[in-house]
Amino acid sequence: SNRIMLGPLVAAIDQGTSSTRFLVFNAKTAELLSHHQVEIKQSFPKEGWVEEDPKEILQSVYECMDRTCEKLTQLNIDISNIKAVGVTNQRETTLVWDKETGEPLYNAIVWLDLRTQSTVERLINKTPGRNKNHLKTGLPISTYFSAVKLRWLMDNVEKVHEAVLSHRAMFGTVDSWLIWCLTGGKKGGVHCTDVTNASRTMLFNIHTMDWDPELCKYFDIPMEILPKVRSSSEIYGLMVSCLGDQSAALVGQMCFKDGQAKNTYGTGCFLLKNVGTKPVMSDHGLLTTVAYKLGRDKPACYALEGSVAIAGAVVRWLKDNLGIIQTSTELEKLAADVGTSYGCYFVPAFSGLYAPYWEPSARGIICGLTQFTNRSHLAFAALEAVCFQTREILDAMNQDSGIHLSQLQVDGGMTSNRLLMQLQADILCIPVVKPSMPETTALGAAMAAGAAEGVSVWSLNPEDLTEVTSEKFEPQINPEESELRYARWKKAVQRAMNWET
Ligand code: G3P
Repeated sequence: SNRIMLGPLVAAIDQGTSSTRFLVFNAKTAELLSHHQVEIKQSFPKEGWVEEDPKEILQSVYECMDRTCEKLTQLNIDISNIKAVGVTNQRETTLVWDKETGEPLYNAIVWLDLRTQSTVERLINKTPGRNKNHLKTGLPISTYFSAVKLRWLMDNVEKVHEAVLSHRAMFGTVDSWLIWCLTGGKKGGVHCTDVTNASRTMLFNIHTMDWDPELCKYFDIPMEILPKVRSSSEIYGLMVSCLGDQSAALVGQMCFKDGQAKNTYGTGCFLLKNVGTKPVMSDHGLLTTVAYKLGRDKPACYALEGSVAIAGAVVRWLKDNLGIIQTSTELEKLAADVGTSYGCYFVPAFSGLYAPYWEPSARGIICGLTQFTNRSHLAFAALEAVCFQTREILDAMNQDSGIHLSQLQVDGGMTSNRLLMQLQADILCIPVVKPSMPETTALGAAMAAGAAEGVSVWSLNPEDLTEVTSEKFEPQINPEESELRYARWKKAVQRAMNWET
């Protein structure tokens, strides 16, 4: 046959909050050869609750893999050249399943879920000083992280409670669930996670790089249900390596040096800055997290992270809940029609506010409305909200380090929105740089998999990596105007805070 000879290929499963993708890259050139994407359903059984179906997540992975392989075969590319598959995933989302039946014991509780708000408030009150970032975990106690979600499952779901008592329960974030299923499931699947995902649970000590017995005791979690923690680049089984999606984007953007940073616009928005091999604690509401550990014997690198819960999710909300757009891409045109929010500010604090506030009781507001306001202004305000939230975390990062980023590297689905990119440059008053290949998260996961010992089709030497082409958006409005709009946004945020009290 006239098969195309491309040499080794490397693939990535990218399981995000809103969709799943499977992507295949040429290991020599990092060129994206083919991919497939499937949207994931979310359910909101009660106010503030967000769940996904673990089986649907798994099925979506199979479907994406099958379809991508079909596409490759049609292109005459031999799929047996895929040398490694990396997993990258929405982090913190919590699952428990039965290791004997292989069945999930409840839906996955998504990171955005607020059901643990009262537990979190109780824990914060009973532990003075604990609303500060914990020294062992680098995280504040928040509804965002897995431990409280797991606690809720153990306390409220009979099946989970029973499975824990009878030693049949397995806990995992989405990476663990997928790797366990894909490596054999109940017939001997590998129960593991990597350091980046583990660092988002509140059970992991980011200094010792292992589960922490004291933290497990604090949340009353039996350690036997936890997955084994591995590095982000090694062979786990038929699967090779995994890393949390935000870490993967950092790797995909090749931010391997101290001080390099990237911002990813997905369901949420996550700005991570590489701080090197020693964890740095923030004084301005950022998280300290494990950036990556690219091999068993390689050192761990840490990152400071500013997490924004709602970015792309606001677009889906405008589409699904308000119906003012039919598809996400319509939003750009709608907002561009007016080119201003006309004084309307939209704080989408649907899951409370994350960085830098960590305020679970905040709720979304839209303010500054007049008779004149229409859906275009609202669309514009929604895009601006994403940019203002990024500005808040960038400011926190600048204040923490005293060093100002001179430009921002960006990626993720929303970066195809050119108006958003221009607005972001305007609101940050620095250039915004976006790679021409937007699937940075998947590329990072594929790179980590391809670089694993025993696979080694990829080198992670920054010098050997192909230069990525990119596009730059320069600020176009004057800084005074930018400051004025930002100051108004801050006022709107104050109104969204402490909504329930
Ligand atoms: O912490 C949550 C994050 O990992 C989710 O990422 O890409 O689904 O917004 P994304």
